[in-house]
Amino acid sequence: MSAAARRSRRCAGLGALLILSSLATLAVAASALWPRLQDDGVHDPRSPAMAVLQQPAEALAPLPRDTAGNLVNWVQALDSGAIAPRSTLLESTPVRTRDDSFIIARYGSMPAVRFPHRQHTLWLDCANCHDALFKPQRGANRYSMSAILEGEQCGVCHGAVAFPLTECNRCHSVSNASLLREQQGLPK
Ligand code: HEC
Ligand code: HEC
Ligand code: HEC
Repeated sequence: MSAAARRSRRCAGLGALLILSSLATLAVAASALWPRLQDDGVHDPRSPAMAVLQQPAEALAPLPRDTAGNLVNWVQALDSGAIAPRSTLLESTPVRTRDDSFIIARYGSMPAVRFPHRQHTLWLDCANCHDALFKPQRGANRYSMSAILEGEQCGVCHGAVAFPLTECNRCHSVSNASLLREQQGLPK
């Protein structure tokens, strides 16, 4: 074998080692973010199922990262194609989506709230919200942050199955100043 070939083989070996050790670092970092099933206080560590259950870190680490909840940005996970869940169990169930969005709070102490139908109807059928939770008519509902914090209205899901209420800016995403300029017909 020529000296050059030996050198390049040694380099390849070194490269593989570096990749292996950075993968190991990633695995350690991921398991620090998502507790192992044995340690999560929910699963029985002595259960024989432990050997076959997938660890959360293995499933969640490759998905787009979020700063709260289970640390996955599920909207981005869907939009980027990182996951492609089935929309329905039965072929015959119609898939209903909507793309409109509206401002449902204005000029309070916080930036205004924009409610997007699109990100919701990609996950949920209309019946999850209409008509029991929200009347499907703009301006027909009264919202309150304290009701939301008590698990009503948006809080039925946010903090339970969707991103938590500590992520204020995900809902309060529109500056009041830009709304006022829009209302006056001025550029944002
Ligand atoms: C899931 C969406 C959501 C999240 C997350 C959220 N809010 Fe709200 N919040 C709302 C909605 C909807 C209203 C509308 C009430 C209204 O019509 O004034 C509101 C209203 C408010 C109001 C009263 C009206 C105003 O704009 O001054 C305050 C204050 C407020 N939120 C603070 C917060 C704070 C602080 C956080 C984070 C700790 C937070 N909210 C997180 C949805 C949310
Ligand atoms: C996650 C909850 C949620 C889901 C799911 C949802 N909506 Fe809505 N929808 C709302 C909220 C909140 C409003 C705002 C009403 C308001 O202004 O208070 C709204 C408003 C509406 C409006 C009034 C629009 C307007 O311009 O007056 C219609 C119509 C509507 N929804 C139909 C639907 C249909 C059809 C689906 C399914 C494809 C759907 N919604 C899914 C929460 C939801
Ligand atoms: C029936 C359940 C449900 C209700 C009720 C609900 N949401 Fe959501 N919301 C979701 C789910 C599921 C997602 C997508 C997953 C995630 O982001 O955690 C989502 C996503 C969002 C997003 C998208 C954030 C992004 O990154 O694009 C916003 C904004 C939002 N919700 C605001 C609201 C507001 C404001 C209300 C109340 C008017 C509300 N939601 C009521 C389930 C709900």
